[in-house]
Amino acid sequence: MNLALKVSGLVAGIPSKQILNGLDIEVPFGEVHAIMGPNGSGKSTLCHVLTGNPAYEVTAGSVLLDGTELIGRPVDERARLGLLQSFQYPTEVPGVRLREFVFEVAVAHGLSPEEAEERIEREAARFGMDRFLDRSVNEDLSGGEKKRSEIFQMAVLRPKVALLDEIDSGLDIDAVRQVAEAVEEMRSPEMGTLMITHYSRILRYMTPDRIHVMIDGRIVDSGSRELADELEAGGYEAVRQRLGLVKQTTAEKRPSDFFTETPFDV
Ligand SMILES: Nc1ncnc2c1ncn2[C@@H]1O[C@H](COP(=O)(O)OP(=O)(O)OP(=O)(O)O)[C@@H](O)[C@H]1O
Ligand SMILES: [Mg+2]
Repeated sequence: MNLALKVSGLVAGIPSKQILNGLDIEVPFGEVHAIMGPNGSGKSTLCHVLTGNPAYEVTAGSVLLDGTELIGRPVDERARLGLLQSFQYPTEVPGVRLREFVFEVAVAHGLSPEEAEERIEREAARFGMDRFLDRSVNEDLSGGEKKRSEIFQMAVLRPKVALLDEIDSGLDIDAVRQVAEAVEEMRSPEMGTLMITHYSRILRYMTPDRIHVMIDGRIVDSGSRELADELEAGGYEAVRQRLGLVKQTTAEKRPSDFFTETPFDV
């Protein structure tokens, strides 16, 4: 059986800078995986590259969604093939009611109008979104409500791969728990979920099948909850030291930096 998502040797970035340096990750159907990594390690870039944001260019590697190569395909085609991303900062769409918005998107994704309506009702009840259906998309919603709304939309659309960037940013402790529970609730044998988080606290309320650590544009380690515990205790420095990774800032010293380290300066 195909994997929901199989990324191999992905090298990508913006024209002036390579950000992903040969990244590999595999997410089987039915599983929820988490990526953790320091600021600037390339997590959001990975999401942009997977969804096909034209600001980023891919120079090597492959991205298979249920066995189909995504590299080279436009954004909307990737979405139709079953890749959906929720955003770090969900946007507000004043004047468009959530119900109509999700309906339009669902029909554009190939659902019949009846099926779309039925799913919207069912999932709204499941995620406690009924009272938001007739309000404008994301308008005047709190941060936690916006995230929940996005997960509700994913549950209606049922992508093969759900990408959730910065899933817990800006949320209070109760909202973190609710969003974590919603991600678990969305679990399905037909979907693989890749979520990006900064804090291991969200992992207290959910059970990701695997946790990946991303440093300098690569997945450097993967494991279970113990890996998150190690990060909580020792930060990324502990993982760097255990793996013998040199911080890029020291590896990329300018020639003048080295002069200060010569014996002549002592
Ligand atoms: N469009 C862009 N233009 C210029 N630099 C970019 C662009 N996108 C990403 N970068 C740079 O690439 C690096 C990785 O950025 P990215 O947003 O992927 O990091 P991140 O892991 O998501 O960080 P954070 O945890 O802060 O969200 C950063 O140094 C960032 O400044
Ligand atoms: Mg980011």
